[in-house]
Amino acid sequence: MSASVKPLPAPFPPENLILVGFMGSGKSTVGRRLAKALQWRFVDLDRVIERDAGKPIPKIFEAEGEAGFREREQAALRQTLRRTFQVIACGGGIVTVPENIPLMKNGGHVFCLRASLKTIRERVGQDPNRPLAAHLEELYAKRLPLYAQFEHQIDTDMGDQKRVVREIYRQINLLRAKAWEPKT
Ligand code: S3P
Repeated sequence: MSASVKPLPAPFPPENLILVGFMGSGKSTVGRRLAKALQWRFVDLDRVIERDAGKPIPKIFEAEGEAGFREREQAALRQTLRRTFQVIACGGGIVTVPENIPLMKNGGHVFCLRASLKTIRERVGQDPNRPLAAHLEELYAKRLPLYAQFEHQIDTDMGDQKRVVREIYRQINLLRAKAWEPKT
């Protein structure tokens, strides 16, 4: 190899795709489809938390409060990010703990799925499996600026999940192409 040839960059660092967004924005459904298309592993962080706790989310909230749940959520995030080539769907409130933001940004490409409050209301309603669903309006207003800090924002109001998956896939391919561009 001649001295002027630089080593190629890693193909697509960092190799995880992380989905954030309000509850009901479609993270799990879209994430599952994306993982299939990329042939990557799909991880639903809420399911990891439930598995580690040995109880469903409403029971965790009941026994440990939201603070206990958030601790478990961060532990699950750290543990999951030890691996690569995964599509990770996070719970809607993961953005409320400031430490989680750099963890996610350093651990993968973060895509935020956006939906209007009207759409969220229709999709979530009063879901008994979502302990915070009763406070949709208040949480929505508080969290909007937290979701806005991610570079990739995907609108899901149309409800066409195939289109959402295609759009994320398109953006990933752009990122990949950029990672391979020769540095001049
Ligand atoms: C939460 C959202 C839920 C789950 C928990 C708390 C939130 O996940 O993590 O009930 O604070 O918004 P989904 O966004 O998948 O519903």
